[in-house]
Amino acid sequence: MRLSRRHFLHTAGIGTASVWVPGPMKGYTADEMRAMAPDGRVEPGVSKWELDTPALCLDLDNLDENIRRMQAAMTRLGIKSRPHAKTHKSADLARLQIATGSIGICAAKLSEAEALAVPGVDDILMTTINVSPAKIRRAMALRKRWPGFIQAVDAESNARDLSDAAREAGIVADVVVDVAAGTRTGIPAGEPAIALAKLVDQLPSLRFRGLLCYDGGAQHVKGYAARRERALRVMAPAAETCQVLARAGLDTGIFSGGGTGTYDMHHETPGFTDVQVGSYVFMDAQYLAIGNREGEVNTDFLPSLTVVTTVLNAHFEGVATADAGTKALTLNQPDPIVVGETGITYQARSDEFGTIRYDNPSRTYRLGDRLELIVPHCDPVVNLYDQMYGIRNDRVVAVWPVTARGRSQ
Ligand SMILES: Cc1ncc(COP(=O)(O)O)c(C=O)c1O
Repeated sequence: MRLSRRHFLHTAGIGTASVWVPGPMKGYTADEMRAMAPDGRVEPGVSKWELDTPALCLDLDNLDENIRRMQAAMTRLGIKSRPHAKTHKSADLARLQIATGSIGICAAKLSEAEALAVPGVDDILMTTINVSPAKIRRAMALRKRWPGFIQAVDAESNARDLSDAAREAGIVADVVVDVAAGTRTGIPAGEPAIALAKLVDQLPSLRFRGLLCYDGGAQHVKGYAARRERALRVMAPAAETCQVLARAGLDTGIFSGGGTGTYDMHHETPGFTDVQVGSYVFMDAQYLAIGNREGEVNTDFLPSLTVVTTVLNAHFEGVATADAGTKALTLNQPDPIVVGETGITYQARSDEFGTIRYDNPSRTYRLGDRLELIVPHCDPVVNLYDQMYGIRNDRVVAVWPVTARGRSQ
């Protein structure tokens, strides 16, 4: 039986709070807020409802709780977390994750890794390969400046190019082999991956450190049992590959993969060392909908990331318009969830406008009112903002730049 929207919101713990405060507000701009927080912190004073909108807000109590829950799970399961920074692109968050027990971060793009190589973030594993000569040179320059940088590789020609660039840079570069879990990235498990790992191990300017295997398709499979079955089945060939390499005496100190959907499954994969969890810090409408051991709503982590938006038009029966459209929330599905309200849907289908529709609403909105939305999919939303506001008890206490915003190369 499908959950009703009201039941879904209630189960996720986001359908009960009374959160609207609005009326005409000052609307502190991003520049004003940055000026108040020269070192990122700000004395609690400005309410999140007083921010110029759309504003990207991060509930720090929920964030702390998500980090605590993930670390507790890692301790219980006997593996580590190596959070994927593609989700938050934030140096502040990366530092916090490492300071609270994660063994490093992952980066999806070279420019992202370069931006996040800051004090407190010593270990960065780049999960995507670099192909062009210019990028390979840049990656090796980063490795020279940042000894904790590890590069993924999934092709023999690429490994040779990396080794040449490492030699030119005067370094021996750390490399992991990406083993395919589907057809998007990676080299097939078994003989091809084993041959590549042995080549990396022998190339003079590379050091083989282990394996990656990430099954993106498993992360959002609905229902815990179905997700676990797929996650373990798809990862099994990579685990066998890992065992063959270990028996051959190669370093398999890293066997990394998985994400928020499978964080509590891969400890069952032999040899697995760490999960590359990303979204757990924020959660989003997509991840709430995958379910967990208990039921159809994933309550393992709490929604911490929201967009505050302002009502721009309330002239018409049954609908209202707010200022967060696709440029504030992306076109991703499912629709954003209005925090604290039931009987209201929000669709962000126009560039600059979102449509509020009343079904059986807990309230209706007036011009200038604010409302708060849980985003459809956190990663691409964060990439739309220069900064996120850290919130405690509805007050802004931090202004964190989205350090690697727009760094998609
Ligand atoms: C290589 C890789 N690892 C891990 C993740 C995990 O992210 P999440 O926890 O948000 O599913 C991703 C997300 O796309 C990824 O691309």
